[in-house]
Amino acid sequence: MKAEAAKTFKPALGQVLECLPPHILSGGLKRGITAIACALAIMSVPDNAAAMPWSWDLFNQPNHRAQKEPAPPQPEGAVTTAGKPYYAKDRDAAARLKNPFPADNTSVERGKARYAIFCATCHGDGGKGDGLVGQKYVAPTDLTSDYVLAKPDGDIFFTITNGGLAIMPGYADSVPADDRWHIVNYVKKEFKGK
Ligand code: HEC
Repeated sequence: MKAEAAKTFKPALGQVLECLPPHILSGGLKRGITAIACALAIMSVPDNAAAMPWSWDLFNQPNHRAQKEPAPPQPEGAVTTAGKPYYAKDRDAAARLKNPFPADNTSVERGKARYAIFCATCHGDGGKGDGLVGQKYVAPTDLTSDYVLAKPDGDIFFTITNGGLAIMPGYADSVPADDRWHIVNYVKKEFKGK
């Protein structure tokens, strides 16, 4: 249908142009009509474009169709099973998670940079809870306190993931899990004895 319409289209446009008085067909209007004609001509092309080979690329490829056996073997590592997702259903379970990163310089430096972005606004650079937002918000817990520093790594990890006991929001959506562990390393190392 579309192809037929495209075939009949050209003479039809010719007729329209013939009907118009010659002086109208000069200058801007002529260019305008040419542009419209081009646009219409391009619109008639999709039928041809659909016949081009690239539109079949995703269809004609080695794949496994429903109800067909056997399924091709899965390439190695396509679905990663390496590492742990660090899932913990509650704070107690989180406390038993093992921090996978030793608190070496690389980890602490990474944690420091992330802390500056995500935590210092409230908890302050020194962890005392005097960040600019912290001053106006509910007073944040002092991260240099024994109360926080005595916590298992997993407990602090849980706080960063899901939020605090009362009002601190969780940062699971903006801080990747590995970075949360690096922040824990930074907090514990940096704020000890401060
Ligand atoms: C929007 C302000 C805000 C930000 C940002 C914030 N916190 Fe908090 N945080 C608080 C407040 C307020 C509390 C105390 C109330 C609560 O526990 O919800 C708190 C409590 C805590 C606690 C103590 C929770 C407990 O077990 O009692 C820890 C640990 C903590 N924050 C660490 C962090 C770390 C690490 C970051 C950065 C990833 C961070 N916070 C970012 C406001 C914030």
